[in-house]
Amino acid sequence: MYSDGNMLVTNKKLLSAAMAKGYAVGAFNIQNLETLLAVVEASTEERSPVIVAATPSTIKYAGLEYLAGMVKTAAESAPVPMSLHLDHGKDIETVSKCIDAGFTSVMIDGSRLNFEENIALTKRVTRLAHSKGISVEGELGRLAGVEEATVEEKEAVLTDPEAAKEFVERTSVDALAVAIGTCHGAYKFKGEPKLDFKRLKAIRKKVKVLLVLHGASNVPSWIIEKATKYGAELSGAKGIPDEHIKEAISLGITKINIDTDLRLAFTCAIREILTGSPKEFDPRKILGPAKEAVKEVIKGKMRLFGSSAKAF
Ligand code: G3H
Ligand code: 13P
Ligand code: ZN
Repeated sequence: MYSDGNMLVTNKKLLSAAMAKGYAVGAFNIQNLETLLAVVEASTEERSPVIVAATPSTIKYAGLEYLAGMVKTAAESAPVPMSLHLDHGKDIETVSKCIDAGFTSVMIDGSRLNFEENIALTKRVTRLAHSKGISVEGELGRLAGVEEATVEEKEAVLTDPEAAKEFVERTSVDALAVAIGTCHGAYKFKGEPKLDFKRLKAIRKKVKVLLVLHGASNVPSWIIEKATKYGAELSGAKGIPDEHIKEAISLGITKINIDTDLRLAFTCAIREILTGSPKEFDPRKILGPAKEAVKEVIKGKMRLFGSSAKAF
């Protein structure tokens, strides 16, 4: 168990420490036992604080009690601070069920709503979550590909610094997910990767809370090439270069969400084993190496984000 006697800690606690020391904590999406083990083993080996993230679709897939039970069991023996975070919660009912199940942090994603509706929904969540000591992440702006968008279209999608200030003040969120040109998934850019760092700087100046970068996967070409060799069809896949991630951290991002890179590593390893060992049919010998592949990717992220050796 982590040293202060708490099993799971809040994102606010993890990220405040990161902000004070200038590093970022990875939020790694899990889907099953193997991806959870990869996160726990990586954070233990790197001595890194870590955020275990689960989306509503993962909760639907695995079952809330199974999922929360697994993560709580992991936290009982993990020697590093860990939080269990709802990623992209869409409604107060999901938030409430997750808090009751033991989540220590929740995201309410009202980015599909207009400004006032997003504020109203987010406020309801902060009121509920804060009354139970749980931290809240809100989102303003939309994570959409903006590469070929006009200036007006970009303004409509990316986070406006002034609006961010108002959003944070009126909702009392602990953390804010910003849109600066990233998007979810494996196809983030057709041309050169480009993020709006000027906007991030302006947001950092206006807004005092913790800042979050979604859609931050790198989509490593070596995984794409290997997966392609074993039959995947991923042409045109492209992600965020490591240098951009470092710059985002230097400008104040303290939480970085990674899902796609883990999915790619997991399925690439499975493809390799099934192709190379056609006689194998023991799930542990197929999923075990997939877990190892995910773990290695996570360890690399922890070093990139500067969170290695920062377990406090
Ligand atoms: O943003 C979160 C994920 O990358 C997509 O989530 O497929 O688990 O719903 P999901
Ligand atoms: P990626 O698809 O870039 O991994 O982003 C994941 C994410 O933002 C989860 O909330
Ligand atoms: Zn996201």
